[in-house]
Order: sequence, then C-alpha cells, then structure tokens
Amino acid sequence: MADFVGAVDQGTTSTRFMIFDHSGKEIGKHQLEHEQILPQAGWVEHNPVEIWERTSSVIRTAMGKQGLNASDLAACGITNQRETAVVWDKKTGRPYYNAIVWQDTRTDRIASALDRDGRGDVIRQKAGIPPATYFSAGKVQWILENVDGVRAAAERGDAIFGNTDSWLLWNLTGGVNGGVHVTDVTNASRTMLMNLETLDWDDELLGFFDIPRSMLPEIKSSSEPAGYGEALSGGPLGGAVPLTGDLGDQQAAMVGQVCFAPGEAKNTYGTGNFLLLNTGTELVRSDSGLLSTVCYRFGDEAPVYALEGSIAVTGSAVQWLRDQLGIISGAAQSEALARQVEDSGGVYFVPAFSGLFAPYWRSDARGAIVGLSRYNTNAHLARATLEAICYQSRDVADAMEKDSGVHLDVLKVDGGVTANSLCMQIQADVLGVPVSRPVVAETTALGAAYAAGLAVGFWKNTDELRENWNEDQRWEPNWSEEQRETGHAKWKKAVERTLDWVD
Ligand code: G3P
Repeated sequence: MADFVGAVDQGTTSTRFMIFDHSGKEIGKHQLEHEQILPQAGWVEHNPVEIWERTSSVIRTAMGKQGLNASDLAACGITNQRETAVVWDKKTGRPYYNAIVWQDTRTDRIASALDRDGRGDVIRQKAGIPPATYFSAGKVQWILENVDGVRAAAERGDAIFGNTDSWLLWNLTGGVNGGVHVTDVTNASRTMLMNLETLDWDDELLGFFDIPRSMLPEIKSSSEPAGYGEALSGGPLGGAVPLTGDLGDQQAAMVGQVCFAPGEAKNTYGTGNFLLLNTGTELVRSDSGLLSTVCYRFGDEAPVYALEGSIAVTGSAVQWLRDQLGIISGAAQSEALARQVEDSGGVYFVPAFSGLFAPYWRSDARGAIVGLSRYNTNAHLARATLEAICYQSRDVADAMEKDSGVHLDVLKVDGGVTANSLCMQIQADVLGVPVSRPVVAETTALGAAYAAGLAVGFWKNTDELRENWNEDQRWEPNWSEEQRETGHAKWKKAVERTLDWVD
C-alpha cells in the first residue's frame, strides 16, 4: 500500500492540501487564500471557479514540493467550510452565481418568515437546527428566486447544488464529463433539508424552500469504502486516487482530535469558533440554543451525533482589527498588543457582525464595543477582542453543560488562533478548565485524511488513530472564581446591548 494519505481542506478564507503519513505526521502542505467578495453590508460571497483553481493549484504544488505522485497516496479526503452554497450548471460546469457563504445574512427575511408560521419548529424537529441565515437552504432559495434562469434550469435538471465538498468532488471526478454529485451526512446536516433520523432529504423541508429534489447531491457516509469516485489522471492529483473521505470541517476536526467517545469535545478557533461534543449514536436535542448535527458516519456503521455551538466571528474579529481598523499588521501582533495591558480596561467587544449565532441565534444583533473611557487604548481593544473569543466559547460551553450534563474536564483546542498563547490562557481563565492543544494543530485536514484512510484500510480502526494524538501544550486556569463570574456577568450585559439592532 502507498505510504501517505492526502486531504483537501477548503476553508472560508483559504484552501490547503496536506499529506500525512501513518503516524499522522504532516509530510507536505500548500495553502492559498481566495477573495472575500463583500458586495454590500451583510453579504459574503466566494467565486467557486477561483476555489476550484486554488484547490488544483495547492494539490499540484504540495505534491510537487515533496516529489510525490498519485501512486504515493492510498486515498484522499475532502473537508470544507460547511453551509456555503454553490449552484452550478452540470452541462457547462459554470456556477450560476457566486457561492453564498455561511456568514452571509441576506436571507434573514427568509429565516424569520419560517419562524412566524410554525415551519421553524418543523425544521428544528426534523433537521435539528433552527431556521437561520447560516444554513444552506435559504441561500439556494435566494439563488432560485433572484438569479435569472436558475429556476427553469433546476426544473430541467441542469442546475445542481452542493456545499464546496460537492463542488470539488464533482470537479475532481470529471466535471461535465461524468463528475459525481455527492455529499456526506455531516454536510447534508447543515442544510435544513436533511432529516437527522432518516439521513435522507426530507420532502416537507424541501417544500418549505421550494427546492427541487433533483438539485441535491446523493448523501453518502463520511468515510466511504466504495469511494465517492476516483480523482482523474488528467486532474491535479495527476493519477487515479480513491476519494474516500468527505466531511464538514468542524466534524473533521472532531475526527482529527480523536473525539470518538460520547462526552469528548473540541473547540476549533478559525474564522469563527465551533465547539462540538460527541453524543454517541444518540441524537440529543438542545434546549439551550445548540445545534444537533451528525458528527460522522463511517461506512455503514451507525451515525454518531454531536451537539454543536457555532460562533460566527472569532478569528475574523482579529482580522477586522487588521483590515478595517488597521491597528495591527498581522494576527500575531494581536497578542503582542494585548499583552501591553493587564486587562481590557473595562472594555467589552461583542463582534456580532453576522448577528449572533449559538447560543443566542439573533440575526437582529450587530456588533458593539462598550465600556469605553478616555483612558482606553488600542491595546485594551486588542485584549477585549481576545476575551470576546473566549467569552463566546464560555457561553457555548455553559449551554452544552445544561443540555448534556457533561462538564468538560479539559478543552481540546485547534485552529489558527490557538497559536495565540495569551488567548488560550484567557480561555482557560474564563472557562475554569485546562485547555489542551495537540502536536498536530491541523486537525481538520488530519480528520479528513483519517476518514479517507480508514475507508481503504490505511488505518485499521479508531484505536490506531488515538495512538497518534499527543499533547503539545496545556494552559491551566489562574483566575479566581469571583474574577471569572464577574467578568462573565459583564460580558452578558454587553451582549444585551447588541440585540434588537436590525429591524
Ligand atoms: O460552519 C462554518 C465552518 O464550517 C467554517 O469553518 O474554519 O472555514 O471558518 P472555517
């Protein structure tokens, strides 16, 4: 068998291709950013053609840098930004419109209408998620209603939909020349269209959004021994490689963090934060504003579910300090600036740029900086930004404890922001539990590689994967209980200030 497994990680701001060996060690990697298209307030789009070109390019470059060929890869997995919707023409391969990104709030009227007449509760019950701008279905409805010719093309069977996993799998397996139109259960569980119990598209839910079933990809497992198809020899992998792993990026991080037992959790710090708790084969419903979602399904085993707290803006708040305010030159500098002060000087920053996601689900919220006095500086704002990342995670952890009764003994973390040691220390302080980061911080790509490799027997089972997990660094909480609770109460007060802002 070949020595390595590859994984495409198609994220919100960039796409990377990574190559891992049997011990889970990174062998090679290449990454490219793509354009964030912001046509008006609240709208966020990506160009799907650019995403496919960047994906091809990172695969070719990473393989080339290591001098590897397709025959060196036992399999390849795909993981992706979830919910982001692409609608394309299967005859020409051309997207009808830019991808509408998960952060985009243009569908707020569609989402709020669903909650006025009881359809929202049906969605909660069947799909395990509340009606919100976040998920894919409203975005597809918007494209069907607003882009000329798409409704007719969908009725003819030419217009098809997918998250970026489906878009890339379709292109990798031949595109207009017989590309496969598939997704996996984790991605499908983020659309508002899949029934979480039957794991199939649900006609009633499709009716709510007037989406023809023929537009939708076939739903497969996240680790598929039969494969989703084979990457073509003419494609970027340069030969036939079995494509056998597909899962949304947060679920992939669960697999990469080896959270295979009920009660195991991880928090990924990317553009947003995503805290997931494995609830086993039991589907747990939330009373506290969390999502029920599919964690993964390996082959024809029973699906494993998770509770998820999704936070829209965390790392992207640091980018905002850099790009919009210009008070830092790079993410690393946020730590240096925040370290200039002992605390945030009474400043609280609630970055509700896309409304508030879990556990509030308030699309009418907008960002606020409160508690300012003449004394405050950029350094206080930088520190308040890091605290906001941690307080938002605390809100989600509290909700998770309420729903599941599970109190975290330790929080496993991963993602770009975990390089910020001050932020991780604040996280331990705000939560009152230790925070632990693994040696392989790229757990998302690793999880997709694990899913692909398990399917072809490159790894025998999940016990073998557990042996690959090693701790790199741990942060212990230092704050007193009183400091923790006073700070959190103030944060909650700041959150109140952001609500009811948009009519
Ligand atoms: O639900 C959105 C999430 O999948 C995006 O993750 O890491 O691309 O910001 P990321």
